[in-house]
Amino acid sequence: MPDSHDTDTTQRKRRNALAALKAARGKYIFGSKVRLRRKKLTDVRNDYTWQSDPELARLDAAPVLKLSFAVYLLDYIEAIHRRERNRFPLAIETLKGEHIGNCTCYAIDDRKSEAQVGIMIGDRDYWDKGYGADTINTLVDHIFSSTLLNRVYLKTLDWNLRAQKCFRNCGFVRYSAANRNGYNFLFMELSRERWQKKHKKT
Ligand SMILES: CC(C)(COP(=O)(O)OP(=O)(O)OC[C@H]1O[C@@H](n2cnc3c(N)ncnc32)[C@H](O)[C@@H]1OP(=O)(O)O)[C@@H](O)C(=O)NCCC(=O)NCCS
Repeated sequence: MPDSHDTDTTQRKRRNALAALKAARGKYIFGSKVRLRRKKLTDVRNDYTWQSDPELARLDAAPVLKLSFAVYLLDYIEAIHRRERNRFPLAIETLKGEHIGNCTCYAIDDRKSEAQVGIMIGDRDYWDKGYGADTINTLVDHIFSSTLLNRVYLKTLDWNLRAQKCFRNCGFVRYSAANRNGYNFLFMELSRERWQKKHKKT
């Protein structure tokens, strides 16, 4: 049985959500189809390819990357070593270790008790096969089980129906819509309470 000192330390840690997310035991956070791991330098080739892809950029309302690989690599090295204050970026791998995309928990706000998540499966061979839903479920489970955050939210373009269906399947519900920089976004959220209810059912 844990003593009260252990319990206090655990609670203190969990109050700093980013530290709690990083404290995951082991190299991987496992789902049933994917495993999530910290980003590494060897991801650079795939990330460059995906960020330079016009269709992926359009689906994410992001600019198409125009940098040369050499310049991108320099920025990448700096970013990999940067001490992130409120972001937790992860690579998505298949269980066999193939890097197929990325997901991030960001805008982590302990005061508001919430964080935003984002996902991109860059390898089209893995679209529509449940890898996105498994990634989101795995990330959300990690967030709610290791931190004290009460709400996870995300945004997606209003015409990206695949993304919306994937997020709905993970328990997210729409709570607002807004135009940002000329793009129509839909905002979806999952509360800790709803996440707990979903887990009780399964
Ligand atoms: C969006 C994304 C994360 C979803 O991951 P995924 O693995 O492809 O999605 P899943 O297989 O888990 O779920 C997709 C669901 O959408 C459904 N779907 C696919 N196309 C659809 C469409 N045009 N309209 C409605 N539903 C659609 C699928 O049938 C599936 O639902 P089901 O499991 O109930 O049958 C992934 O496709 C991706 O990263 N795409 C490229 C980038 C992108 O869209 N980024 C924006 C993220 S906000």
